[in-house]
Amino acid sequence: MIRKGILLAGGTGSRLWPITRAISKQLLPLYNKPMVYYPLSVLMSAGIQDVLVINTPDEQALFKTLLGDGSQWGMRLVYAVQPRPEGIAQAIVIAADFLAGEGCCLILGDNVFYGEGLQGQLQRAEALPNGATVFAYRVAEPRAYGVVTFDASGPAVDIEEKPAHPKSNFAVTGLYFYDCGATKIVQTIQPSARGELEITTLNQRYLHDGTLHVEVLGRGSAWMDTGTPDDLLGAANFIHAIEHRQGLMVGCPEEWALRNGWINHDQLRSSADKLGKTTYSAYLRTLADEAHE
Ligand code: TTP
Repeated sequence: MIRKGILLAGGTGSRLWPITRAISKQLLPLYNKPMVYYPLSVLMSAGIQDVLVINTPDEQALFKTLLGDGSQWGMRLVYAVQPRPEGIAQAIVIAADFLAGEGCCLILGDNVFYGEGLQGQLQRAEALPNGATVFAYRVAEPRAYGVVTFDASGPAVDIEEKPAHPKSNFAVTGLYFYDCGATKIVQTIQPSARGELEITTLNQRYLHDGTLHVEVLGRGSAWMDTGTPDDLLGAANFIHAIEHRQGLMVGCPEEWALRNGWINHDQLRSSADKLGKTTYSAYLRTLADEAHE
């Protein structure tokens, strides 16, 4: 059972310059909430209450202002710094003390997931006694991603980082589950030609051990990263369309906290009161009223 989460929210955000010259990409708005709420909500939907948030040294104070110690959501949030963006796998190195020999769920701070089947897939990944799980999503242009090939029954047969000639259209998304062995493996990984500890290298180690599992996010689900201005706008428009149509929010941490029984409706109301007269606080009040019925 995986109890610990890592939310990796550092990076340079250089494809979004000048927007991200002075502020972290993950603090930018995605429609009506900060981007980091979306991956945080995915961790919460997996029942993960104990999360290490990793930031750049310059931006960490802003994340602490926004997310605090997590108690408003019945969580425990702690923080660490990544001095330079030296790769996604470095998150596991940085998290060694936090993990204290346990496995983890790692999620990237700029990834948005949406779809009904996700929760069941998260539960399956969590329940695996050993190995790692990656989540694959079909994309039209896989060259910019880690690309995974798998057979019909699911286990990965190949995984490559940004291949010139991809063997499949399935990108590896920014959501990973690792057993307790990951902490030791990352210590043996050497930086790649671009100077990063590659998450694909860690995944390749599990692949070679025969313990890399693949969960395919089906075509009824959405996975978006928000690396470029077009991606950012596209994701915001997507969320706007869904929320407007349904009257339900995507990526609302308070909602997950309530659903998980980590806060009660009085705590939800007090969160709403702190947000003044906003559509967000109105939504929280509606949830509190429904919970009370
Ligand atoms: P990327 O999109 O690969 O990098 P970036 O966010 O710095 O943006 P750009 O390429 O435009 O410069 O990162 C994906 C996510 O992982 C994003 O949320 C930032 C995070 N990340 C880190 O926190 N540290 C790292 O060392 C890397 C490589 C990524």
